Amino acid sequence: MNRNLALEFVRVTEMAAIASARTMGRGDEKVADQAAVDAMRKMLDSVECNATVVIGEGERDEAPMLYIGEKVGSGAGPELEIALDPLEGTTVCARGQENSISVMAIAEKGGLLHAPDTYMQKIAVGPEGKGVIDIKESALENLKRLAEVKKCRVQDLTAIILDRPRHVELIEEVRAAGARIQLIGDGDVAAALACCDANSGVDILMGIGGAPEGVIAAAAMRCMGGDFQGILKPRSNEEIERARKMGVEDINRVFHMEDLAKGNVLFCATGVTDGTFLRGVKFKSWGAITHSMVMRSQSGTIRRIEAEHHFDKKPRY
Ligand code: FBP
Repeated sequence: MNRNLALEFVRVTEMAAIASARTMGRGDEKVADQAAVDAMRKMLDSVECNATVVIGEGERDEAPMLYIGEKVGSGAGPELEIALDPLEGTTVCARGQENSISVMAIAEKGGLLHAPDTYMQKIAVGPEGKGVIDIKESALENLKRLAEVKKCRVQDLTAIILDRPRHVELIEEVRAAGARIQLIGDGDVAAALACCDANSGVDILMGIGGAPEGVIAAAAMRCMGGDFQGILKPRSNEEIERARKMGVEDINRVFHMEDLAKGNVLFCATGVTDGTFLRGVKFKSWGAITHSMVMRSQSGTIRRIEAEHHFDKKPRY
């Protein structure tokens, strides 16, 4: 995969972020998401590639744009697969809260798990915890293992967990272990990224979130040298059936990072609202400033890009 593609794709998340950031705080999730989808769809066709959306806005009959199986890109160049979320954290953006991002993961054909739209139990850690976590073990055991490699006490660790009723037991277990907890309203892709940032104050992501977001997070963790494991958690027989149709034979299997995103992987994300890892879009009289990150698993290079977008020289978003 041409390394310059990474810089082409970040233009796409930048535009989606600017478009959705305009809707910040309006309290309308649909409007926020639609703005991101429209901008992402438009920009994607300017990228020289022959790509298929494998994780997107939903099945073809439920999403008019960026649906699973949709062909995007100019049609020339390498055959790629894309997992995207034009606005990860729609509620967060609609409320003007922290950590909504526009995000994409790109791999060569066959590189990404075609994850069904169901839930996934997840565990993610930064590079120091790579190889020591095990999603089949208890939260306490994982915290102990992580504390050992980080040369600290369990009490010094912070777990980031989606604030959901389904996590009551997990939260109790982490509290009983003595670790600190950061409960978040939404956005577990940004939460996984935070585990790789030594300054974020977050050490481990645990709990159940969206399976599509799990694939995107796994791609990011591969680029950043962290670790990620997931187990699908379907809510109905219909979801189990859908997973089987998408090629998942063993519904209880543990997906490691490379099972979710294998081969050469690109990852790019742009902050929509301010967050731990990326700053949100700032509008100015002349345009907007965006903060993005672009990474490649092959090189492990993590680029942070602050871009000034001058609206008098390109379309106004
Ligand atoms: P959206 O961007 O689709 O709103 O997803 C936000 C999110 O919080 C994800 O980060 C997370 O994986 C998922 O929703 C959790 O799902 P639920 O809100 O149903 O618990």
